[in-house]
Amino acid sequence: MALEIVVGTQWGDEGKGRVVDMLSAGAAIVARYNGGDNAGHTVTVGSTTFKLHLLPSGMIHPETMGILGTGVVINPATLLKEMDMLRSRGLEVTPQRLRLSFAAHLITPVHQALDAAQEAARGKDQLGTTGRGIGPAYTDRASRRGLRAMDLLDLDQFAEKFKVHIAAANLALVNLYHAEPLDGAALLPEYLNFARQLQPYVDDVGRQVQAALAEGKRVLAEGAQGTLLDIDLGTYPFVTSSSSLAPAALTGLGIGIMPVGRIIGVTKAFQTRVGAGPFPTEVMDENAERLRGTGSKPWDEFGTTTGRPRRVGWLDGVLLRYAVRINGVTEQTLTKMDVLSGLPVQRICVAYRTGDKIWDHLPMGPADLSTFEAVYEDLPSWDADLTGIRTWEELPSAAKQYVCRVEEVSGVPVSYISVGPERDQVIERSV
Ligand code: IMP
Repeated sequence: MALEIVVGTQWGDEGKGRVVDMLSAGAAIVARYNGGDNAGHTVTVGSTTFKLHLLPSGMIHPETMGILGTGVVINPATLLKEMDMLRSRGLEVTPQRLRLSFAAHLITPVHQALDAAQEAARGKDQLGTTGRGIGPAYTDRASRRGLRAMDLLDLDQFAEKFKVHIAAANLALVNLYHAEPLDGAALLPEYLNFARQLQPYVDDVGRQVQAALAEGKRVLAEGAQGTLLDIDLGTYPFVTSSSSLAPAALTGLGIGIMPVGRIIGVTKAFQTRVGAGPFPTEVMDENAERLRGTGSKPWDEFGTTTGRPRRVGWLDGVLLRYAVRINGVTEQTLTKMDVLSGLPVQRICVAYRTGDKIWDHLPMGPADLSTFEAVYEDLPSWDADLTGIRTWEELPSAAKQYVCRVEEVSGVPVSYISVGPERDQVIERSV
């Protein structure tokens, strides 16, 4: 079988969790290849809502194995908590159901302390990180002083490395950021306890993935965050610290170049972003509240990880075309279509303008979008509630027109449309 990849085409929070949950039915493995517990995936199954930050959302299917790949940074405390949460809901979490890459880096409390100190030091130029220590953990990886999952296997060596790790971070915390040092000796017993619990799960996950594909089984690679938060090709410096694009699935899982099948781009029907940074189609008027919701429902636009209200705006077709190109997206899932019902107008950004010049692409990637003004196309609106609709034929013609325009603007077909948070609130199209 060829690997299938799910990737967010925007600034994260596209609804990948529920899409991965849907596509995981029948998959042997669901594997995350980047990011850490900065991600937030909400999946609603009947009256139960699962909020996962680190474990792949496909693990909600009892027969599917979860993998955290080489490109992931693992906070052991979060991981063990999520493993327990799944167990408390009747799901088995054993080494037969979960594997961690030996090469995945670990997040420790010093990374979180450094994240907070670095954000504070940025003053008015804060990035609005999730505070989970993601940036400092990837910094340690690049500086070749990180702790890796395989370090958990030898407790004596781990204890030594842990002490050195905390001491090095304390130097930076105290001397650069004038923050309080952490007490390595006090933290060590907890980490040794984490190590004992996680040892059986550490593995060469690339071999697992390749063997499953060779046996004709389905493997789904789950990207965290989104295209525009990618460390290289996102809205730098307002990005995360990992490679979130679909091509990173191969290195992030530790597998070689191999045939890739579907690359499913998850696109929210409108645009949202949490944290600072440019947002050309941002909406500040009364439509913003309609798009965001009040926070009373799990699917309203408030961060799963931070609880922060998300910034909202019209769908940005220029950024979507860019995302399709750099990921190699072959098909899309359009999420949250139901939220657009009842808006006075449906608006899609189809190009950018600078002075008299119209751009249908980004001349230099999305790093500096501040000089671009969005050029919009207005489409007819609809009032009907879409949440009960399950077939393309039943959709109001204005909603169909919106979907077709998204396909034209992005250049790839929309194969699924979600109209609510429940598993069955999806319209499948043959494309
Ligand atoms: P960090 O990943 O915590 O370093 O945060 C860097 C930027 O990425 C901030 O703007 C965060 O809000 C954003 N970010 C990180 N993870 C997610 C996510 O899963 N969804 C949406 N935004 C995210």
